Amino acid sequence: MTNPPRPRRVVVLVSGAGSTLRAVLEAAREDAYGARVVGVVTDKDGIGALDIARECGVPTAVVRLADFESRALWDEAIARTIATFDPEIVLLAGFMRLLGEPSLERFGGRILNTHPALLPAYPGAHGVRDALAGGAKVTGCTVIVVDAGVDTGPIVAQAAVEVLDDDTEPTLHERIKEVERVLVTATLGRLAREGWTVSGRTVRIGAANPTTEESS
Ligand code: GAR
Repeated sequence: MTNPPRPRRVVVLVSGAGSTLRAVLEAAREDAYGARVVGVVTDKDGIGALDIARECGVPTAVVRLADFESRALWDEAIARTIATFDPEIVLLAGFMRLLGEPSLERFGGRILNTHPALLPAYPGAHGVRDALAGGAKVTGCTVIVVDAGVDTGPIVAQAAVEVLDDDTEPTLHERIKEVERVLVTATLGRLAREGWTVSGRTVRIGAANPTTEESS
């Protein structure tokens, strides 16, 4: 009898409430999910995501930009901190800073981000606000493999959400987050179990092991 594959080690980076983190932690309670959260790293103190991680017994680390003399030193520190958890996958779940070269060098191709819009439309820190301001009738959420740009990486998965006439940024964001939690947990689980390959802009899930050389 063969042993079931070991769950992939995932580090989650967060800056806020952590509802996506909570959804991933809940999904990861099942061994069959294929991923387990081995660490949560934030750039802020006192955020909901830290409480959620502690509640679930997951080790946490806070790496605040204000504690470093330069952005470059923070970039090094966050890469080193992530590395202490020895992750196979790094998930940005509401992490509101760009990861710099040190993280991309160490974990490139294995960093996922979730964004509250249908990329390439409305990238950046205000995806929901910008979709409303742009008059979009349909928006949604996107999981990408992170590259050096702002929300420019290859698209892994997307889900659409209708914009209602009376939507405000909070009402629309809340409906997007409901869909996003399902998309992120399902996508992370599949990537962890099945692996993936990136060829140009195209991501294919399956038929690859996340730790092999040609795939992520
Ligand atoms: C999510 O909607 C995520 O897409 C967004 O922050 C929210 C996190 O919510 N991320 C970005 O806007 C990144 N550009 P949560 O803290 O409740 O999981």
